[in-house]
Amino acid sequence: MRPWRFLAPNALGFTLRTARQALVDKLRGAPSRPAQVADYVARHARQGDPADVLATIDRFAREERWLMNIGPDKGPLVQEMAQRLPAQARILELGAYCGYSSIMLAAACGPQAHITSIEVDADAVDSSRHNVEAAGLSQQVAFVHGSSTQVIPTLEGRFDLVFLDHWKDLYKRDLQLIEERGLIGPGSIVVADNVGDIFNPDDFLDYVRHCGRYTCEQRAATIEYTDVPDAVEICVYRGAPQAPAA
Ligand SMILES: C[S@@+](CC[C@H](N)C(=O)[O-])C[C@H]1O[C@@H](n2cnc3c(N)ncnc32)[C@H](O)[C@@H]1O
Repeated sequence: MRPWRFLAPNALGFTLRTARQALVDKLRGAPSRPAQVADYVARHARQGDPADVLATIDRFAREERWLMNIGPDKGPLVQEMAQRLPAQARILELGAYCGYSSIMLAAACGPQAHITSIEVDADAVDSSRHNVEAAGLSQQVAFVHGSSTQVIPTLEGRFDLVFLDHWKDLYKRDLQLIEERGLIGPGSIVVADNVGDIFNPDDFLDYVRHCGRYTCEQRAATIEYTDVPDAVEICVYRGAPQAPAA
């Protein structure tokens, strides 16, 4: 992460706006951002309609408070990957926040797919459950409350897609845990959000691009609900390199 980049001319407006919103909420003693979103969705979204729940969350992010969802610019990249998966795909998401990307993934994959989403913040888990239920997709998504690093070692089986979208300094360590645990196999897709210049998880990028286990592609995008540049890394796992024969 390069915090000074938030003060660059193209990001300064975004930085000041989000700081002001956080300060106003603090001074007012407002509920947490995820709790505000769940309340807004309950009041405004058409129940059982995933597209309308996503549009309602987007409206909140534009008109009320900024949200760190994958959002409508980068979301379609993630959906495109989800649509390549088999019908009974298993997806692992690290970082649920308000359940926005879980809804997007579940809607893109269809009813036989299943998403396990790990989230460390209790309010975010509650909000995600409410919003996914409002979208009518609860059967497809299981939220696990806890830290990724503690939950990953308890998981079993292979995942077809892993979506890394929690704190950026954990991407590399958690991906290595996922590999060690055998949770991905050849052909599994790993998608990482926020790999652009501002967040820049360079240890992660260096690892996936040079460890010999992944074929990587970067897609340019913008930070959700802004025109500040960002990027998404799409990595297809090839498996561990074979040791040379003795
Ligand atoms: C960018 S938001 C996730 C956005 C969500 N994927 C979406 O697009 O709608 C990051 C989330 O990761 C969660 N988080 C951060 N570190 C975590 C960890 N070690 N384990 C689980 N969740 C974590 C935060 O609480 C936050 O809700």
